Amino acid sequence: SIKAIRASILDIASVVDKPEDIEQHLRFIEDGLMLVDNGRIEWVGTWEEGKDKIPDSVRIRSYPGKIVMPGFVDTHIHYPQAEMVGAYGEQLLEWLNNYTFPTEARYKDKDYSREMSAFFLKQLLRNGTTTALVFGTVHPESVDALFEAAEGINMRIIAGKVMMDRNAPDYLLDTPEVSYNQTKELIEKWHKRGRLLYAITPRFAPTSSPEQLAMAGKLKQEYPDTYVHTHLCENKNEIEWVKELYPEQDGYLDVYHHHGLTGPKSVFAHCIHLEDKEWDCLQETDSAIAFCPTSNLYLGSGLFKLQEAWQRNIKVGMGTDIGAGTTFNMMQTLNEAYKVMQLQQHRLSAFEAFYLATLGGAKSLSLDHLIGNFEVGKEADFVVIDPCATPLQQLRYDSSKSLADELFVLMTLGDDRSIYRTYVDGRLVYERG
Ligand code: GUN
Ligand code: FE
Repeated sequence: SIKAIRASILDIASVVDKPEDIEQHLRFIEDGLMLVDNGRIEWVGTWEEGKDKIPDSVRIRSYPGKIVMPGFVDTHIHYPQAEMVGAYGEQLLEWLNNYTFPTEARYKDKDYSREMSAFFLKQLLRNGTTTALVFGTVHPESVDALFEAAEGINMRIIAGKVMMDRNAPDYLLDTPEVSYNQTKELIEKWHKRGRLLYAITPRFAPTSSPEQLAMAGKLKQEYPDTYVHTHLCENKNEIEWVKELYPEQDGYLDVYHHHGLTGPKSVFAHCIHLEDKEWDCLQETDSAIAFCPTSNLYLGSGLFKLQEAWQRNIKVGMGTDIGAGTTFNMMQTLNEAYKVMQLQQHRLSAFEAFYLATLGGAKSLSLDHLIGNFEVGKEADFVVIDPCATPLQQLRYDSSKSLADELFVLMTLGDDRSIYRTYVDGRLVYERG
């Protein structure tokens, strides 16, 4: 079924190697028309050029004063941590023990996993996020529940069961063999079913034995087009601990690299305290990084060196990292990213920020041929943004002097109130009340 959407339309036409190049690829159509057919972008241009292409039977969805953008891409989030956002007072390792592990235990129950999957996807949609790379728990039921819910609206979700066989409470541990078998079964069941994709998900080096990481590597070899999703160099105590646990490896990233877990479809969350050899390894293997500013500030982990990633042409996407992160909302995440970069004397522009949240995120998930902008033929996942959702936003919008200024105000003041409509697979899936 064909849909016709009339609004201002904004996207970035092409993947870039440096932030200065984004502006020249920016497409902004003040009075635009987008035609969507069968879940795909069929045509984008000005209203004047396109209005005669709309079949008579099609109702025009007109959003005056709103901006249509590609749906946001969240490259690192834990769905079983929504109920513990704002857990007080700890940094990474104590936070995991005191808050995270007890929370994740609840996902052994399939009904609970179902209920929370529905909640989680609703939160993504009300925040304009249409694609996410998601951690489940150690329980395969948790992943089944999430994929079942995502399949119901044909949403592009990448997820995996956590593999963890040591250094956590017994009730959350599997074994190398069990994790291998369960992961394999989940890959066979879900990977490439509709728009769903599977990520092999060892939690992080400290909670996996070498035998388990070898199993993860074996799975990656058997299913080379699956993803690998894990954490890397988030916290200084964590890094010291990895060096004690894996003395035979040449640093934290080498633990993953040695087991065949780096590569173009590997996404490493955080990457705050990387050594030069680790930057080199990410670059050489074309691995991607999830930049999670709200989490990195909240847990006091540190400041991600985004400029270094650009210089080395390493793919970066934005991650909310719920529940160490404090918001599902991508604009709030960008707002904090700006501050993280301010502390390092780098000015994160609105164009760079929106690139990272859309096409850059898609690129870091190797999905830029399918999502991330409005190229004809791509999947029709998009948001209708209200840039004036609050009195303060209205005031600032009226005094904005350029598109860059308007977008910067949006990422500074925007939140879930800015999301007026969300479309997934060409269908309306969220309307602001
Ligand atoms: N490292 C290992 N597990 C986790 C987690 O659940 N959240 C964060 N932020 N870091 C981790
Ligand atoms: Fe995380």
